[in-house]
Amino acid sequence: MVGAVSPSSKHLMRKMLTNINFKTATVIVEFGPGTGVFTREIVQRMRPDCMLVVFELHDSFYIKLREEFKHDSRVIIRNESAEHISSVLKELNKNQADAVISSLPLANFPSELIQTILQHCKQVLSQNGKYIQFQYSLTSKKYLQQYFNSVQINFTGRNIPPAFIYTCSNAPKIS
Ligand SMILES: C[S@@+](CC[C@H](N)C(=O)[O-])C[C@H]1O[C@@H](n2cnc3c(N)ncnc32)[C@H](O)[C@@H]1O
Repeated sequence: MVGAVSPSSKHLMRKMLTNINFKTATVIVEFGPGTGVFTREIVQRMRPDCMLVVFELHDSFYIKLREEFKHDSRVIIRNESAEHISSVLKELNKNQADAVISSLPLANFPSELIQTILQHCKQVLSQNGKYIQFQYSLTSKKYLQQYFNSVQINFTGRNIPPAFIYTCSNAPKIS
């Protein structure tokens, strides 16, 4: 379920967050925060009126993060699977998300689960919204290309293991 040997590096974290417009984002979603390497930085950078909705399945990570952010009313932490993104946003009276930052170990997931998660993300992302995912291989590329118009791939060797960063969007292509 965790799919990693150690928490992500600060270098990977910066690369993951570089394409998010924190000046305009009012709803950000994070999948699989683990120990919270990305979460802490998102919370630092996000607007005072932005909501961060976090999905973490692992009980002990969930409990620690809930404790850490209990005084920040902008942060909603759910002990639920990422595939529930649409229903959870609806429950929170949010129709759209400006960014989804995902650390989910897609390579370990069954194909149906990947497709369900990506289908829901595609539905809830705003027109210029971004789905940003890191992986240790290129095996998920075909799924991301199935659901998003644009899939940009970056790489960093400054993480253990080295990682690919996918930045996906459905913004109309400019020809
Ligand atoms: C590779 S770890 C990443 C942790 C952290 N974001 C980092 O980069 O160091 C993946 C995380 O996804 C969580 N996870 C796995 N399946 C999930 C699911 N279906 N929904 C939400 N979280 C999930 C795991 O519990 C784990 O915390």
